[in-house]
Amino acid sequence: MRKKLIAGNWKMNGSLAANQALVEALVAGMPVQCCDVAVCAPAPYLSQLQTLLRNSPIALGAQDVSAHDSGAFTGEVSVAMLKEFGVRYAIVGHSERRQYHGESDVVVAAKAQRALAAGITPIVCVGETLAEREAGKTEEVVKRQLAAVIHTNGHCISEIVVAYEPVWAIGTGKTASPEQAQHVHAVLRAQLKAASTHSDRILILYGGSMNAANAAQLLAQADIDGGLIGGASLKAPDFLTIIAAAG
Ligand code: PGA
Repeated sequence: MRKKLIAGNWKMNGSLAANQALVEALVAGMPVQCCDVAVCAPAPYLSQLQTLLRNSPIALGAQDVSAHDSGAFTGEVSVAMLKEFGVRYAIVGHSERRQYHGESDVVVAAKAQRALAAGITPIVCVGETLAEREAGKTEEVVKRQLAAVIHTNGHCISEIVVAYEPVWAIGTGKTASPEQAQHVHAVLRAQLKAASTHSDRILILYGGSMNAANAAQLLAQADIDGGLIGGASLKAPDFLTIIAAAG
């Protein structure tokens, strides 16, 4: 039985004051026994979050990481830097990075590799656009995106977390139905199984307008092992409801 993971993706939101209020409300409302929980914060707040989350059951995550170790890469943040702030997870290949920053499958695979080498769990995002879904290419797209990460990270692939995030569902209020999501998760699960003898332990999260109202149904699916939550992770009561739904 895989322990579920609920990870908040704050995206480019927050302030020192807002982060403190949100984390204090989350810590106060966390169930005594629950799934694994993480918040993925903007890089400038990692120091603040490291302090706020100390001695709490909530892990710290980053939203991206450089594919390089150090050097002339203006604006980039390395795995070594993330480690210094106690970061446990790093989202890689979010569709907003792929779309607005031109990140290719190869770059995403290299980022996952850097994270794994540093002992940070990469949350590798895959997902199709609306046009790709309508063209019947959903499986082809997500399998291609995951294949690049498997190819580069072969022997330690069982250490990654995968997040299936249909691009058309992100921030739109249009959630994939539990059946649609489960179907793609099963495809990804089969691909991971073919790549690793330890694939049973790999978490596959769903992301894309998961919220307090629809989380329980999505999380009840056989291959949905948690959620990557954007908008609803910024509201403590909603995020706590999703955590409770994950059990
Ligand atoms: P959303 O974002 O929950 O706001 O749709 C999810 C994500 O992009 O990770």
